[in-house]
Amino acid sequence: MTEQLSIKSDLPKEIARRRTFAIISHPDAGKTTLTEKFLLFGGAIQMAGQVRAKGEARRTRSDFMQMEKDRGISVSASAMSFDFGPYRFNLVDTPGHSDFSEDTYRTLTAVDAAVMVIDGAKGIESQTQKLFEVCRMRDLPILTFCNKMDRESRDTFDIIDEIQENLAIDVTPASWPIGMGRDFLGCYDMLRDRLELMDRADRNKVAESIEINGLDDPLLEEHVPADLLEKLREEVEMARELLPSLDHQAMLEGTMTPIWFGSAINSFGVKELMDGIANYGPEPQPQSASPRPVAPDEKKVAGFVFKVQANMDPKHRDRVAFVRLASGHFKRGMKLTHVRSKKPMAISNPVLFLASDRELAEEAWAGDIIGIPNHGQLRIGDTLTEGEQIRATGIPSFAPELLQGVRSGDPLKGKHLEKALMQFAEEGAAKVFKPTFGSGFIVGVVGALQFEVLASRIEMEYGLPVRFEPSQFTSARWVAGEKTAVDKFEAANKQHIARDHDGDIVYLTRLQWDIDRIERDYPDVKLTATKEMM
Ligand code: G4P
Repeated sequence: MTEQLSIKSDLPKEIARRRTFAIISHPDAGKTTLTEKFLLFGGAIQMAGQVRAKGEARRTRSDFMQMEKDRGISVSASAMSFDFGPYRFNLVDTPGHSDFSEDTYRTLTAVDAAVMVIDGAKGIESQTQKLFEVCRMRDLPILTFCNKMDRESRDTFDIIDEIQENLAIDVTPASWPIGMGRDFLGCYDMLRDRLELMDRADRNKVAESIEINGLDDPLLEEHVPADLLEKLREEVEMARELLPSLDHQAMLEGTMTPIWFGSAINSFGVKELMDGIANYGPEPQPQSASPRPVAPDEKKVAGFVFKVQANMDPKHRDRVAFVRLASGHFKRGMKLTHVRSKKPMAISNPVLFLASDRELAEEAWAGDIIGIPNHGQLRIGDTLTEGEQIRATGIPSFAPELLQGVRSGDPLKGKHLEKALMQFAEEGAAKVFKPTFGSGFIVGVVGALQFEVLASRIEMEYGLPVRFEPSQFTSARWVAGEKTAVDKFEAANKQHIARDHDGDIVYLTRLQWDIDRIERDYPDVKLTATKEMM
């Protein structure tokens, strides 16, 4: 294990040792299994199998609802902290279901790097590509893990070519697989000249690691059968000729990804990947903010909310805001300023998520994720500081792709419905629009399954049966521009105007043609498909 901080850093040690990252993958590639092995090697759990038994992809809808009911579980899995040697890893979970991509996008604003897991037989899949594009928007460094090498996989060069071509990123092999499928023996560690051999008998055991003095070392012959060894020597030679070697700077800039080959279920390659995150993964990075960015080593504490989870305990209606600390040394009990309302907030019960447990966070440093229980004051995009009026930027809100009207089964409970909808809007689980004309609400989501989840949560958490029904509108755009231009636009298009839960003005329509027309007729007004959460 890595015993010392390997990178010379200008940051204070407590900050320099933090690695905050997310795992991105297409469903079924092995994200859950890999997470579990991370926790196992991080000493956070004793035995694999303790976290979650199943990956999100194979969950049926009812399983999914059940998961929503067991919100305690999904919350503790939202952020996990554990130590790996001298390092502190903060792993932030990205929801796997594509219907929740907006949540995923926001999660990626809270991390400094991403681990991209691909299935060795399938390569780059649709969701991998999508998530990768989001990482690219933020120039996030990516470390790649090619999983399931114990099964028949694609040729190693093919996999690397596919990543380079589809994602337009340079790939450098950190390890090279020896054999595949039933013959998969292990890997040659290209960065450290070691032979790593997989133990098929014990799935939770760390691989045997043998120091090798280059590919001509006779020791190799003792461990690798002649035919596989010949192939390995040929391939590594070719790889060294054809593929770039690790350029740490390029990796940090997100233009190069190192790839490790392994088998998460057999714990193979996982420790090497973790060493990679420790040694090459970036330390906490500056946070973009207005009017100035926040550096992690600033003395004063600043943090921003990237996720809100409500009603974890339906009896108490509590909410937890997930805050990424951007700077400073946070201590429990601190009074911070809630920048949006300019009000002070005493943070007396912050929580830290240690594997499957929640613990009071006595202290935290830049890079950490803490949960702050609150009664709704904290919203996605909010910033907390020690007084300075500074706002984190770059946390997006996307225009929903599906809109529906919502009707309460009990007409007398209109206020309840409004409260429930506002809560979900603040949580970021849906967009809620109140049209200028008419009495109802229009709810917008990114994926259809969200309507079902919302209906079930409103019923469960508020005891209110609701029905979603087709709306006359299909698209929503935020309206921006000078006040006089926006006022004029609003007056002339009242039938289409609504407000979102922040009171921002939104244009609703069912025709792309309308949007094009407005762009033509109102050059001073801008219709946008995203807005920054403030
Ligand atoms: P996800 O979170 O990305 O959706 O994937 P998850 O870890 O749930 O893994 C998906 C399936 O792939 C699981 O099998 C898991 O056991 C298997 N898997 C993960 N890593 C490896 C590996 O290195 N090699 C092989 N051969 N399989 C691997 P399942 O049968 O669908 O579910 P389960 O019954 O094992 O939970």
